[in-house]
Amino acid sequence: MDQNALKQAAAQAAIAYVPDNTIIGVGTGSTVNFFIAELAKIATRIKAAVSSSEASTKLLKEAGIEVLELNDAGTLSIYVDGADEITHHMHMIKGGGAALTREKIVAAASEKFVCIADQSKLVDVLGKFPLPVEVIPMARSYVARELVKLGGHPEWRMKDGKAVVTDNGNWILDVRGMAITNPVSVEVAINQIAGVVTNGLFARRGADVALLASPDGVRKLGA
Ligand code: A5P
Repeated sequence: MDQNALKQAAAQAAIAYVPDNTIIGVGTGSTVNFFIAELAKIATRIKAAVSSSEASTKLLKEAGIEVLELNDAGTLSIYVDGADEITHHMHMIKGGGAALTREKIVAAASEKFVCIADQSKLVDVLGKFPLPVEVIPMARSYVARELVKLGGHPEWRMKDGKAVVTDNGNWILDVRGMAITNPVSVEVAINQIAGVVTNGLFARRGADVALLASPDGVRKLGA
């Protein structure tokens, strides 16, 4: 089974968690793209969606799903999103796709977080995947020095020789070399640095359910 088939299996399994006639939150990434394709098949069952990125908004609209601003939507029934790493405690690293800040906001506004991923994302300790940190551009160098003091090796995210710019107009630092044994305190500590918009640790508000696909089927963690 290739990785795309696993992502699709996790995405299909998440449909069972979508309550009828509610507004749902939709994440970002290659696994979520499969979820949006599944959602298209049951589009009339939901009221609308709130999206965590311009990329997902485009796909949702193409699938015929109404996309609302979070400010107009109130509390969302569920939030479905992927992860770059997830632990058995349901703590995650996210933001490989640079959408971490909007993802964190939409997740915070949702009653239930359903994480969809292939089994390879399950880890014992977070931090092998570089931790994304979204920064206000003028603070990049200062924040990087502060991250070094916390034991990390930050790298300014570039693509084709240019700084990656988030949907919010900011930059990303990817922090390597951190074995994150206490994700809640690391999440809080990094968010205290002036100039940090947010970081990709989702520990204070982790996932409620994880649907992890392997060739043997989709394994569920959490309630
Ligand atoms: C986007 O910024 C990320 O948080 C994604 O949710 C995460 O990178 C998982 O993406 P994939 O589903 O593409 O692995």
